[in-house]
Order: sequence, then C-alpha cells, then structure tokens
Amino acid sequence: MAPLVWFITGCSSGLGECFVREVLSRGDRVVATARGDPTRLKHLEELGAHTMDLDVTATQDELNSKVKEAVERVERIDVLINSAGYFEAGVTEEVTDETFKLQFEVNFFGVLKMTRAVLPYLRKQRSGFIAFIGSPLGWKGVPGSSPYVASKFALEGVAECIRGEVAQFGIRTTIFDAGNFKTPILSPERIKYSPHTIKDYADTMQTFYGIIDYLDMKQPGDPKKGVKVMVDVIRGEGVSKGKPAPERLPLGTDMMEYIRGKCNDSLALCEEWGEISRSTDFD
Ligand SMILES: NC(=O)c1ccc[n+]([C@@H]2O[C@H](COP(=O)([O-])OP(=O)(O)OC[C@H]3O[C@@H](n4cnc5c(N)ncnc54)[C@H](OP(=O)(O)O)[C@@H]3O)[C@@H](O)[C@H]2O)c1
Repeated sequence: MAPLVWFITGCSSGLGECFVREVLSRGDRVVATARGDPTRLKHLEELGAHTMDLDVTATQDELNSKVKEAVERVERIDVLINSAGYFEAGVTEEVTDETFKLQFEVNFFGVLKMTRAVLPYLRKQRSGFIAFIGSPLGWKGVPGSSPYVASKFALEGVAECIRGEVAQFGIRTTIFDAGNFKTPILSPERIKYSPHTIKDYADTMQTFYGIIDYLDMKQPGDPKKGVKVMVDVIRGEGVSKGKPAPERLPLGTDMMEYIRGKCNDSLALCEEWGEISRSTDFD
C-alpha cells in the first residue's frame, strides 16, 4: 500500500499524539497540528512529522488556508483525524449559553470546519477518510456533563449525514466511539466546570466529581491500543483486513456496555409503549 498522508488535529497530547506516532511507525506521512506555540510539537517533528499550529476555533477561511498550506508542503491529504476536543462540565441550569457555545466551537464547529476545509481535496482525488471521535456521552446523557454531551450528540449526528453524502466520492468515514481512554482529558488542568452555586444540585455535582475522580488517568482504555485499531480500520489492514470501515466503531469494554445498555433500554421502551405509540397513526 502506498504511504498515506494524514492531517491530525489536537496532537499536543492524548489520542492525537498517539495517532501521529502510530502512523509514522507504519511509514505514512503526517501533518501534526496543535494550537499555540509550534515548538510544542518539536518531539513529533523529530520523529518525522510535519507540524503546524492550528486552533480549530479559527475561521473557515483561516482553516482553509492552513489546509492549503499543508497540501503545498506534503502534496496531498488522504486522512483527516478530528481529534481536538475538550470537556465542559456543569449542571444544565448553571451552564450559560456562552459556555455551550465555547464547547461547540471546538467539539462541533471545529470538526465541521476542518471537514469542510479538507473535503474539496478528497472529492477531487475521489478518495480519502475522515475520522470523528465519538464518546459514551454521544450515546447517553449523564447529569453534570450537558455541554460535552450536547457537542458529541450533535457531532455524531452530523457525522452520520456526512458519511452518506461523501460515500459517492469514494470518501470513507467512521465515528470511532471511544470509551474511557487514559488521556489527560479529565485532568483538573483540562476539564472545565461552570460555576456551581445552586445548592439543590450539590449531590448531582458531587456524584459527577466522583465519576471524574474515579476515571481521571485511571481509565480502562489504552490509547495506544485504541489508536492501533483505528489506524488498522482506516488503512484496511491488521484487525480490519477484509472488513470495510464501519459507520461507527465502539472501542473499549465500557463503550460496548454503554451501547448495549442503550439498545436494551430502547428495545424495552418499544415493547412497553409500542401499542400506545402505534395508536397515534392515522386510522
Ligand atoms: N480520552 C477519552 O476517554 C475519550 C473518550 C471519548 C472521546 N474522546 C475524544 O477524543 C478526542 C481527543 O481527546 P483526548 O482524550 O486525546 O484528550 P486530550 O489528551 O486532552 O487531547 C485533546 C487535544 O485537543 C486539543 N485542543 C483542545 N482545544 C483545541 C482547539 N481549540 N484547537 C486545537 N486543538 C485543541 C488539546 O490541545 P491543547 O493542549 O492546546 O489544549 C489536545 O491536544 C476529543 O475529541 C475527545 O472528546 C476522548
């Protein structure tokens, strides 16, 4: 297989950084991006990555220019990995619209804008892959996490639409539904909390803080293993040899259980309310 060229957002840590290391180890080329000081990615540059500063909240024009500059440097882009993201937490009544918008600017519009910036090149070459990173919280809301949940539900819905829109051009997509993987995303330095003052929600937030404390840097998912599987799927090799890239791929035992639970609950709902539901059709 000819080497692929990857464009990856959010490479300063976590899954994004793991992707860069993994694809370089397979002999592919990569444009690794992170916001702010480009020397943050010096260690990846030393491994052979092309690096670029890129904040996914930039304007569409600015992101288009970044992608154009990347194509000039590396000739083409075959794969876009939308990894940049962060977690805004809080009880919905206490989270302002401004905070919801900040969360959406990164996790939703950032991904959308990057996808729009790359698609013209992929359409022209009639091939390519766009990866979206979903979450258990893109399947089911958990009290205390509504901005993040909203951004992932929105993203995953749009990603399903995009898949149907671009398949005709030979462009493949997958929502990689990552369970809890050991990255700094939930660390006190990264996770953002809306000010919490309404005493009635004290127990709700205590439960949420407990979940975060339980998971932070103790997540069961190994990011290196998760990324290896994702790269296999995108390259159609290893564990994915002979299997087309699925619309969604759950990664991790916890993610599988999350989906199973949601599906079982949905089926039980259809059973319990099915007759009443059907009764609303025209006679
Ligand atoms: N780890 C998990 O358990 C898990 C589960 C499901 C989904 N995910 C998703 O996986 C993706 C990667 O997360 P991770 O776990 O690898 O967390 P992470 O280690 O915190 O990495 C997130 C990356 O996004 C970057 N980022 C944040 N805002 C940005 C912006 N405006 N522009 C460009 N980059 C920005 C961060 O850069 P800075 O250093 O500049 O902040 C960082 O490099 C996210 O979309 C997350 O929602 C993670």
